Amino acid sequence: MEIIIHSAEQLLSVTGARAKRGAAQGDLGIIENGAVAMRGGDIVAVGPSEAIRGMATRETQLIDASGCVVLPGFVDAHTHVVFAGDRVNEFEMRLRGASYLELLKAGGGIMNTVRATRAASVEQIIVETRARLDRMLAFGTTTVEAKTGYGLDTATELKQLEAIYVLDAAHAIDLVPTFIGAHAIPVEYAGRADAFVNMVTDEMLGAVKAWEEKRQTKGPFLRLPFCDVFCDDGAFDAEQSRRILSRARALGFPLKIHADEFANLGGAALAAELGATSADHLMVTRRDEMKKMAEANVIGVLLPGTTFGLGKHDFANGRAFVEENVPIALGSDLNPGTSWNESMPMIIAMATRYEKLTTAEAIVAATLNAAFATGVGERVGSLEAGKQADVLIASVPDYRHLAYRYGTNPIRHVIKAGRVVV
Ligand code: NIG
Ligand code: FE
Repeated sequence: MEIIIHSAEQLLSVTGARAKRGAAQGDLGIIENGAVAMRGGDIVAVGPSEAIRGMATRETQLIDASGCVVLPGFVDAHTHVVFAGDRVNEFEMRLRGASYLELLKAGGGIMNTVRATRAASVEQIIVETRARLDRMLAFGTTTVEAKTGYGLDTATELKQLEAIYVLDAAHAIDLVPTFIGAHAIPVEYAGRADAFVNMVTDEMLGAVKAWEEKRQTKGPFLRLPFCDVFCDDGAFDAEQSRRILSRARALGFPLKIHADEFANLGGAALAAELGATSADHLMVTRRDEMKKMAEANVIGVLLPGTTFGLGKHDFANGRAFVEENVPIALGSDLNPGTSWNESMPMIIAMATRYEKLTTAEAIVAATLNAAFATGVGERVGSLEAGKQADVLIASVPDYRHLAYRYGTNPIRHVIKAGRVVV
């Protein structure tokens, strides 16, 4: 055995073959005085310390986790981490009363980051993104869903995808790509949203697919990216979103949707209709739409950092989603406009207080369920034999402290694919 972590006060196995929902949403699979053994980048065994310690050989690195909680690496199920520049000027304007959607409609907002990202070289984008990934890793994030959407033209969208693949190969964090060419209506298409939608369906999706098929360099996560759409006031309506996502589905892309972040345009129901993997944001989703999501096995990705980042109070009703049997995942929504947040522990702290998840539910949402929302639930998200060894040691005496304390970093060790990286 290469590494054995033993004597954990609690080991949270979070075992499960699919995203957990309803009463199971909070099922952490706790092993008291737990241990985990790994070799060749994978988990070999999980169980009580007495049993697992017996697997040690002379070469084994033993890590004592007494006084600590051991848990799966966090999966951040929704980020826009790949971008250039920042929007601190707009943040200051919003503090003085400007609204996010007004800035967007005036050609600022997302469009400002589009201009910066179009102008930046792929190397520059990688340098800026790598610094963010380093900090995310220190907070325990080991897998990240990463969106494009700051290109809004084919060349820059592909440049962002290139940055995602380079970073996935070079960085300890695994990155899973999502194409969101329909993230905003670019200024060159102002007043011609349908023409832009045609460009996405007739040109961009095919170009992304062809580009993906040419790349044959990557291992486990080589796949078509997710296709996502920002379905909201000021962006794309339900009909435009349906056109893009239907075409993407026909080409073989798995689907996601930004739904109900500002206005309810029917995005959650659309996700159910099209069999999307997830619907994300969901701040103003109705109960009847939650029921449709549950029936269609759509995972609800909640992003409390966005509500907080916008200085708003209409947090998604996480409790209602659990009651309606929708599996819930969590993400940071890390982006330069609404939520520059790099800490999943902080997201857990917010999800418990404002979205009314229990701490156990929020931890499942940030691990196993986030892994399934990201399409990698077969490989990561729980501590079970055969999965990749993405393991955290948190300096807290029981799991409840992971939500109770906030603004502090509880993560003491990060093991990524069987290697100690923090
Ligand atoms: O998830 N809503 C659309 N996308 C992001 C914001 C992106 C940006 O402002 O740059 C979000 O909140
Ligand atoms: Fe987003």
